[in-house]
Order: sequence, then structure tokens, then C-alpha cells
Amino acid sequence: MNKGKVDALLGIVFGDEGKGKVVDYFTPKYDVVARFAGGPNAGHTIIFEGKKFVLRSIPSGIFDEGKLNIIGNGCVIAPDLFMAEAKELESAGYDLKSRLHISKRAHLILPTHRVLDRAFEVAKGKNKVGTTGKGIGPTYSEKASRTGLRVGDILENFEQKYRALKAKHEQQLIDLHYTDYNIDEEEKLWLEGIKYMSEFPLTDTEIELNEALRQGKNVLAEGAQGTMLDIDHGTYPFVSSSNTVCGGVCTGLGVAPNTIGEVYGIFKAYSTRVGSGPFPVELFDETGDKIREIGHEYGAVTGRNRRCGWVDLVALKYAIMVNGVTQLIMMKSDVLDTFATIRACVAYEKDGVTTETMPYDTEGWQAVYEDLPGWQTDLTKMTSEAEFPQAFKDYVKYLEDRLETPITILSVGPDRAQTIVR
Ligand code: GDP
Ligand code: IMO
Ligand code: MG
Repeated sequence: MNKGKVDALLGIVFGDEGKGKVVDYFTPKYDVVARFAGGPNAGHTIIFEGKKFVLRSIPSGIFDEGKLNIIGNGCVIAPDLFMAEAKELESAGYDLKSRLHISKRAHLILPTHRVLDRAFEVAKGKNKVGTTGKGIGPTYSEKASRTGLRVGDILENFEQKYRALKAKHEQQLIDLHYTDYNIDEEEKLWLEGIKYMSEFPLTDTEIELNEALRQGKNVLAEGAQGTMLDIDHGTYPFVSSSNTVCGGVCTGLGVAPNTIGEVYGIFKAYSTRVGSGPFPVELFDETGDKIREIGHEYGAVTGRNRRCGWVDLVALKYAIMVNGVTQLIMMKSDVLDTFATIRACVAYEKDGVTTETMPYDTEGWQAVYEDLPGWQTDLTKMTSEAEFPQAFKDYVKYLEDRLETPITILSVGPDRAQTIVR
């Protein structure tokens, strides 16, 4: 019988909600922090004591010395990028090898998966997904095709298995007429990364996690991406290639559904999206530019402009439903500090049809808004709810009523300290 619980912290819109910040903030309450999906397409920013880190594959619980961090079986991992990320943390004084375990069942992203990612995007032309180019789609496709290489493969006859898969990819690239690439340098680093990774505990993380739960330890599952990028529930085909929703916690870590405790759904006080695909709340005017400027909405992984718009209650309601969100966390409220009016999308409209429910085909819908007064007050130095201006309290209450879910944490700035628990 398990005594511990797995709480999940999930991005519930299009990613970049501030998951890294809150996982780092929550870590002292947990024994284990585990990533269950995605790979270096993620960019999780953590800021504390004047330091800033952007994590891609390593869980955001890594800064707390006594905690075990796990890269779970549902993740995909690029050894070269992992090595660069880990070395940066090591040179900042964090001893990773004692606190980071990697699942033997996680899949490896090969350099040629990244080339295939680019080749598939080129082949899609104007329908391209706008991927991060990290080889995510090709690696998860390989996993589903049952031809992938896993972390556990490092331990035996690896070079031979690698060469065989690389040769298959090279043939695929010839078939796609995509031959203008050179991975020589990348491959050297990648193979170095394989060696470096093999110095970490490569383990059966599902067994470790279940043993920890049996002993009454608590686990925080750190989501990557967001619900609208989920392979099943997002705006397909403009999505990532893994299950980012709560169900992905079970498959991506090997923990049973009845071990799940709280499900934290994290969102911003407005919306952003990187890459292509439908985004009914997108603003093409100076308001969108202003949100981008104030919120520094440029991708942590690729540096691309994030598309910006008002908060989308249709998407949020859908995400709360499919994830079973028990508590909401609202980030970046401070970004809206100077706006006289705040808008919330309450429905989508197309060809005279209005819906408050997420439609199957999200293309071509227009947002229907309700307007609320802005608070026009600097929230960034506030340390308790009592200091909040009434208009901000009203905005929070409005969202809670509409979403029928409590907002229990409000973030008013990027620093760990700018976090208000209600
Ligand atoms: P993640 O992928 O969900 O971890 O989010 P990202 O790190 O990609 O993007 C969130 C960005 O917002 C980062 O630059 C954070 O430092 C920043 N951030 C997080 N919370 C807040 C907040 O409450 N206010 C402001 N202004 N920035 C925040
Ligand atoms: P975090 O964890 C925002 C987007 C890409 C693209 C689509 C598919 O930092 O929130 P992929 O490379 O996964 O095949 O790209 O998904 N995307 C993200 N957008 N935040 C992320 O992660 C993302 N990871 C992927 O921009 O539109
Ligand atoms: Mg991010």
C-alpha cells in the first residue's frame, strides 16, 4: 500500500507558464521531483538570489540539495544537450550525480533525429509546426515504431546499435531529398555526452518511485509543455509529440492513477503561444506587442517571439477538465499592471456559431471577450494578498468563478521570492 502521493504540476495552456519557477518553489515540500514527458524542447526558467538558470531536461528540483530528481521513462533525452546543461549546473556548484537519476527506459534523441525534425518541417512547407528543432517528433515516432534507442542501451553494445539507427536515418533523409547537413561536430559531442551520461545512475526509475511512495515519500511530477500542445488533447497537428496532460504522469513515470494527489494547473494572467497553429486570442496590435515587451515573451529555447493574447477561458476550462485540476496557479499577473482594461476570452465564435467548449477543429475561430477594469498598480513588491488592489482581487475572483477552481498561488514577478500563497 502506497503511503506517499504524486502531485502533478502541469502547464495547462501552450507552455511557458512558469512551471520551472513554481517547481523550484515547491521543492522543499517534496522528497522527489520527476520530469515525465518531453525533452530539451522545454525551457524552464528559475531565478533566485540573483542567479538565473534555464533547464531543459533536468527537473527544476535540482537546486535543493537533499532531494532526488528523476528524468522519467516518458522523457526523451539528447546526451549532448544534457551534458551542456548539467555541466553548467556543476560549474555553478551543484553536485548532480548524487541527486539525479535517469530512467533506462527514456528514449535517446540522436543527432539525425534533429536533422529529420528539420527535414519534416521543410517537407510540410506552409503547414510546418514550428517545432523547436530538437528532434522531439522523430524520437517519439521512433519510440512508437518500436525502433528507438533507450538510455539503457548505453550499457551494452551501444556503438553498434547507434551506427545501425543512424544509417537508417541517413537513408530516410536521402528519400526525403534532404542531404544538405553535416553532423560531424555534433556527433562528436553527442558521443561524449553518452559517456558523460553513463556516469549518472541510469536506473529503473519506476521501481525507485514506487518504493519511495511505499515509504511515504512525496513526489512532485513536473510537467513540460502544456495541455494545448498535448499529442491527444492539443491543437493537433500543431502540438508536441508526448502526453503533457495528467495521464502522462502515470505512463511517463510508471506510477498508478490512484497515487495522484493534487493536480496543480499553472497558467499566465494572459496567453502566449510559440510556433504555428490556431490561437483564437492572438493579438496582432500594439496591445499584443506591449504584453510581449513587458512579459519578455521570447522563447527560452529558440528565442522566437511568443504570440500573445488575453487569457482564454475556453482553453482553461478544457484543460481543467482533462487534467482533473484541483488548484490553479496564476503567473505573471504583474505583466498586466499598466493596462486600463483587461479582457478575458469567454467563448469562440465562427460563422455565427458560438461555443464555450473546446471545438475539435480550433482553426478559424474568433475570441468573444468580456472586459474587466485593470488594477493599474505595481504588484511586484507585494508580499501578501492583503496588499492587492481591489480590481486585481476582482480579476482573480472572476477567473475562479468562471473556472470553478480555486487559484491558490499568485506570482507577481520572476523571482522565487515573488510568490504569494493564498
Ligand atoms: P516554463 O517553461 O513553464 O517553466 O516557463 P518559462 O521559463 O519558459 O517562461 C516563463 C518566464 O516568465 C520566465 O522568463 C520566468 O522567469 C518568467 N516568470 C515566471 N513567473 C513570473 C511572474 O510572475 N512575473 C514575471 N514578470 N515573470 C515571470
Ligand atoms: P515548456 O516546457 C512552449 C512547441 C513548439 C512547437 C510545438 C512542437 O518550456 O513550456 P516540438 O519541438 O515539441 O516538436 O514542437 O510545441 N513547444 C513549446 N512551446 N513551451 C514549451 O515547453 C514547448 N515545447 C514545445 O514551439 O509549436
Ligand atoms: Mg518554457
